[in-house]
Amino acid sequence: MSGCPFLGQKHKLFKNKLLLQEDEDDSQKGTNKASKGGIIYGEYLQLDKVMSAQVLQSELKGDKIHDEHLFIVTHQAYELWFKQILWELDSVRDIFRNDQVRDERNMLKVVTRIHRITMIFRLLVEQFAVLETMSALDFFDFRDYLTPASGFQSLQFRLLENKLGVADTLRVPYNRQHYRDNFRSHESEILLRSEKEPTLLQLVEKWLERTPGLETDGFNFWGKLKENIEAGFKIETEKLEQKPECETKQEMMEDLNKQKDVFGSLFDEKRHDHLLSKGERRLSYKALQGALMINFYREEPRFQVPFQLLTSLMEIDTLMTKWRYNHVCMVHRMIGSKAGTGGSSGYHYLRSTVSDRYKVFVDFFNLATFLVPRTWVPKLNPSIYKFPYTAERCDSSYFSSEDSD
Ligand code: HEM
Repeated sequence: MSGCPFLGQKHKLFKNKLLLQEDEDDSQKGTNKASKGGIIYGEYLQLDKVMSAQVLQSELKGDKIHDEHLFIVTHQAYELWFKQILWELDSVRDIFRNDQVRDERNMLKVVTRIHRITMIFRLLVEQFAVLETMSALDFFDFRDYLTPASGFQSLQFRLLENKLGVADTLRVPYNRQHYRDNFRSHESEILLRSEKEPTLLQLVEKWLERTPGLETDGFNFWGKLKENIEAGFKIETEKLEQKPECETKQEMMEDLNKQKDVFGSLFDEKRHDHLLSKGERRLSYKALQGALMINFYREEPRFQVPFQLLTSLMEIDTLMTKWRYNHVCMVHRMIGSKAGTGGSSGYHYLRSTVSDRYKVFVDFFNLATFLVPRTWVPKLNPSIYKFPYTAERCDSSYFSSEDSD
């Protein structure tokens, strides 16, 4: 007994307060709907299937290795995200294929979904860190149990590359074999089909070729740009020639000549075709012009969304390169330079894939080479050149609300 006169009272006070709280507690208001029937969480997500798909080969062989669970879950998480990326990618390709981008309102949908893909990729690039909590020795304990399975056989990863537009001719060969030869026949057929469908790169290329402002009988962006650049270089050369002779003048003249050469190549269609044949450029000459135009006039309301699209497409390439890089670093750490479970040289093969050969939208990166001072960019006369929406110019679908979904 404390002898405190308030203790008994205090107890009562608390009780009252509790009662009051129960009455007023908003967090407890509501009804348990699940008890009335209908689909519940686990059924909706088919969790019985998902949660029973972690079968440890080590356990089956009577030698359960703890970290194999992490290895399986990590790969499954990657595959689920690949599935979501393909879902978005297919929907975007459908919008382009059905010509729904003529209705510019669909462009926001395209940009949103491409942006979503980039956000997923950010996650995928970082996700290796979780698997890296497993040591090389822990991996060694169960690695033999999974041979000859390998990420190389990931159907979804190859579909992703194909649908984006990784060129078959630019792929690094796998043990001197075609990548498809490592797939079972029905998967090989799916891959072959995906190679024949229009890639995102090809669809974007067709869209860029229609960039308003490229028409030679209209704004004639390309013709005007060429004129301005030639005039700009002429003024720069004259200014430089007036400077007193010195070593720096010579160096500046050499630099200027190099710059002139670079731009000379931009306006040389034959040179473009040659680079195309080598895989160093991937876009048609007209599409490249459209992309450069969007870059120059990105602040125009008409070009803001297209500019965002080009930026996000570059982001996909950047993130895929980062994915390849993080993967190969992890592989090096886990197996050194041993051969892969799939049979490749492992680290050495993977390192050769971290290359521009796999960059689908490489032309958008190279556009920065051709940026010029703002004063050289052909001026728009807003009362003449409004850059009509593609739909207004090409057909009357602008007012139709045909939608992809
Ligand atoms: C301990 C972890 C891992 C190791 C040691 C490893 C090792 C390898 C090796 C050696 C290859 C080359 C093919 C071969 O000979 O097998 C490869 C390819 C591949 N792996 Fe992994 N990997 C690991 C984790 C992952 C994860 C978590 C993924 C996620 C999906 C993944 C996806 C792939 C893909 C898509 C390829 C084909 C890459 C290409 O050919 O460009 N790997 N892996």
